[in-house]
Amino acid sequence: MCPKDKIIIAYINWAHIVQQRICSSLLSLAHPNTAVLEKILPPLYFTYAQTLYEMFVEEKSMSWDNEYKNFGNVWGERPSELAITAVKYLQKNRSNNMILSILDIGCGYGRDAFYFLDNIRCRILGIDISEKAIDIATNAAFKAQKEDVKIQCCNFTKLKEGKYDIVFISNLYQLLKKNEREELRKTVMRTLKPNGLLFLGTLSERDPEHYGKGTPVPGESNSFQEKVYLHFCTKKELVEDFTFLNIKELYKHEYCEPRVTGEIHHHISWILIGEYVGTSYNSG
Ligand SMILES: C[S@@+](CC[C@H](N)C(=O)[O-])C[C@H]1O[C@@H](n2cnc3c(N)ncnc32)[C@H](O)[C@@H]1O
Repeated sequence: MCPKDKIIIAYINWAHIVQQRICSSLLSLAHPNTAVLEKILPPLYFTYAQTLYEMFVEEKSMSWDNEYKNFGNVWGERPSELAITAVKYLQKNRSNNMILSILDIGCGYGRDAFYFLDNIRCRILGIDISEKAIDIATNAAFKAQKEDVKIQCCNFTKLKEGKYDIVFISNLYQLLKKNEREELRKTVMRTLKPNGLLFLGTLSERDPEHYGKGTPVPGESNSFQEKVYLHFCTKKELVEDFTFLNIKELYKHEYCEPRVTGEIHHHISWILIGEYVGTSYNSG
């Protein structure tokens, strides 16, 4: 190969790396589905950024698929701590005559959705990106003849329009990067009815099980890359993130969580209950 060819190949490789870096950094700033990226990126780069983002989502859903394939009902049949809190709160504060519509985002294999159905009058849509989790939940709903629950394999960013009395999110917020957390908040705004309630459970900066383990994420406080990315919220951050809600309760909750593997995890999580005070939100 002559020196001129070598220079051309080196240039192509360099251009490819630069292109990849630009797309990745833009992706970490904005979501590729937003009109923003489409406006600022030339078409080829936009397509490339979208492909990279889809690969990232695909990788994430595959890693959850593996978790559910290997361990099935990872946290057993017991409901999450947030579901127990939500049921108590709703039994006390909302009229039992009303049939509540509930959206469970990141529902996993449906343990909380079934708990809601057994304890309050409601209809539920559970969504999750893991096909395996959705298979387990769908089979369980079919066996138990639970007709008031719908389960869908879907990323919350792609959720179709719909308004709910309750949006329920247990142990998902901590897994999302900054721009994804913002997307999730937008999803909450567009799916909650006026006066609807958000129940959110997410790991706190005092979590003894995972905080400080793995590699700190550069440029972010309270984020670590262990087996998965984890972000640990502070109270101040949650108050700032959810200014569109009238926060009814926000407190730390300490508990031990048994897993099917026999391990017991010790957590300190935030429990946030907020009422949506807005009237409409257009994600446009
Ligand atoms: C820690 S698990 C909690 C599952 C369930 N809430 C529970 O407590 O049993 C987090 C779940 O969120 C799902 N998930 C992650 N990213 C998601 C996304 N972008 N859209 C919908 N679900 C997602 C995962 O597949 C996983 O099932």
